[in-house]
Amino acid sequence: LEMPMEGGGEQGRWEEERLKTASLSFGAKKEREKGLKAEREKYQLILEEDEIINFVSSAVIMKGTQDETEQEQAALSQAEVQKQSIQEVRRSLPVFPYREDLLLAIQQHQILVIEGETGSGKTTQIPQFLMESGYNDGGMKIGCTQPRRVAAMSVAARVAQEVGVKLGNEVGYSIRFEDCTSERTVLKYMTDGIGLCLKVVVVIIDEAHERTLHTDILFGLIKDIARFRPDLKVLVASATLDTERFSCFFDDAPVFRIPGRRFPVDIFYTKAPEADYLEACVVSVLQIHVTQPPGDCLVFLTGQEEIETCCELLQERCRRLGSKISELLVLPIYANLPSDMQAKIFSPTPPGSRKVVVATNIAETSLTIDGIIYVIDPGFCKQKSYNARTGMESLIVTPCSRASANQRAGRAGRVAAGKCFRLYTAWAFKHEMEESTVPEIQRTNLGNVVLLLKSLGINDLIHFDFMDPPPHETLVLLGRRMAELPVDPMLSKMILASEQYKCSEEVLTIAAMLSVNNSIFYRPKDKVVHADNARQNFVVPGGDHMVLLNVYTQWLESGYSTQWCYENFIQFRSMKRARDVREQLEGLMDRIEVEVCSSGGDIVPIRKAVTAGYFYHTARLSKGGYKTVKHQQTVYVHPNSSLFEEQPRWLIYHELVFTTKEFMRQVIEIDSSWLLEVAPHYYKNKELEDSSSKKMPRKQGKAKEELG
Ligand code: CDP
Ligand code: MG
Repeated sequence: LEMPMEGGGEQGRWEEERLKTASLSFGAKKEREKGLKAEREKYQLILEEDEIINFVSSAVIMKGTQDETEQEQAALSQAEVQKQSIQEVRRSLPVFPYREDLLLAIQQHQILVIEGETGSGKTTQIPQFLMESGYNDGGMKIGCTQPRRVAAMSVAARVAQEVGVKLGNEVGYSIRFEDCTSERTVLKYMTDGIGLCLKVVVVIIDEAHERTLHTDILFGLIKDIARFRPDLKVLVASATLDTERFSCFFDDAPVFRIPGRRFPVDIFYTKAPEADYLEACVVSVLQIHVTQPPGDCLVFLTGQEEIETCCELLQERCRRLGSKISELLVLPIYANLPSDMQAKIFSPTPPGSRKVVVATNIAETSLTIDGIIYVIDPGFCKQKSYNARTGMESLIVTPCSRASANQRAGRAGRVAAGKCFRLYTAWAFKHEMEESTVPEIQRTNLGNVVLLLKSLGINDLIHFDFMDPPPHETLVLLGRRMAELPVDPMLSKMILASEQYKCSEEVLTIAAMLSVNNSIFYRPKDKVVHADNARQNFVVPGGDHMVLLNVYTQWLESGYSTQWCYENFIQFRSMKRARDVREQLEGLMDRIEVEVCSSGGDIVPIRKAVTAGYFYHTARLSKGGYKTVKHQQTVYVHPNSSLFEEQPRWLIYHELVFTTKEFMRQVIEIDSSWLLEVAPHYYKNKELEDSSSKKMPRKQGKAKEELG
């Protein structure tokens, strides 16, 4: 068998440290069971209630089946069987025996911190307990905040299924630019907008340990709101990390611990650092597949591109090995993956085969995939990092924290004893990794935070009760009108400026296209030449923003055609999203009193409006690349840009991404005099003088290969 077993297989490559990540808590469970006996009657009642729910919903289904075909009836009764097993699964979750205690604690305390292992049922079960015990009586609502869009959608879908309702009816979700709720919605999972109206009776701040920006802001807001609303219940749900801090922040709120069922996880470290962790992942998966007993495998990578490459490599090597190995199902999961593909990771593994899920750290705590026995952890994650001095925000691949690494390892021990393969040395774990991840609020551009808080009517930001206050110098105030738009401050500034330059039609389109996240152009590996040609055909003078506008306009002229997208290597899904976003933004124009009108083909006003929003993102051609105007940092035009070859003297960039070097993504050409026009408070004439009159030699080199 030609297995790529570099380093002589497991023996040669790995160093084992039989480290148990957690102790079994079966002792505690036994004690609980004693207590449970006394409550048996109550529990029987719950079981019966569950059955009643089943019965009722099956009655509804039966009503609908009167004149259905036989086939459909079979499918429906299969759904019944599924539903029964869903109830069994619910009862088997670690949180289930604590249902009554938990409800009692919620009744007795306004703010309660709930700590439980990932997968114990916090997100899916607790809201159901609340609904079952009537918290939503009288039209009241339950809200559960989620840091990730994927988690919000998938959890809402799961809970809707468990409750037996259609997603968007009683159970729904609301994420930025997408609202899947209705008047009937009682339980809402949401990533965005807190919507804390008087109708909300319980708010659950879920995944609190992630310490995302929104979560951190919510902490401060809710603490304040709770004082005025004694009837509001606040639940702070967290994985087993740092719960004391939450309790402390909320004036010593009690912590309710749900004992987990964790099996021991053996941890293996590599003896030497890995030069190429992607390749190391692929090799490790295959090693596990051929040498280890059945059980699914979870690999942690940092982003979509890496995940796709890893999946391709795995599939490719499996194809080459053919029937020499049993089947390996390779499934990716990341935030932008289409939801039908996302759902696949939850389907059970067929006997005789092995599933390998290649995930971002979304699978660290937000999603639970059953059946994982093996975890491969290269020890990296992608983190947003903000430099207040340069005003730059970038996504950087950095070593993850020890807390993260332990969470990842824990994923292997949910259903049985597992193994975690760390693609780094034990020494690196102890000496090179940070203890825990720095909260996002301390490494982000606070423009958005400020706007959000201001829009909520909070003006005294300096004294706002932050759990970990953001750096003082980044608290700068910006306009309230901008806060009306659910987009980044610079984008909203750009939209507002389009009023003055009479080109809001075009600018709205550009804003919508920019907000769909660089996923417009489709570039399949086997049709690279065609895709690049198609892309080239969209190029128009002015820069990438104008190209985006051109793509959208042509699509509009095609009647928003799917076929058109297909033929032009454009992602239909992204375009559809851009259209949605555009419609929503257009709807808001009224509110901020901006008239929607077109520049009629003149591209100067459009570029001026962009400059007005992004004046901070100016770069000027200099030796060997570009330099940002304010901080003289060296940056480069992204090879995918329409201006990569042209290299104009002055550029505005939409964002900086750091891969092999600091690249500007989505750039437009500007005239430096515009900067004085749009931001006279910011630029001085002297700064904008051109020191040389001749065009700079092109020195960027071919970076295309580096980027893949
Ligand atoms: O929130 P917590 O991590 O405590 O657990 P949960 O998300 O409520 O998950 C409880 C159970 O529901 C897990 O065992 C998952 O397998 C299952 N689940 C699922 O099947 N599909 C989802 N989309 C979410 C959860
Ligand atoms: Mg959860």
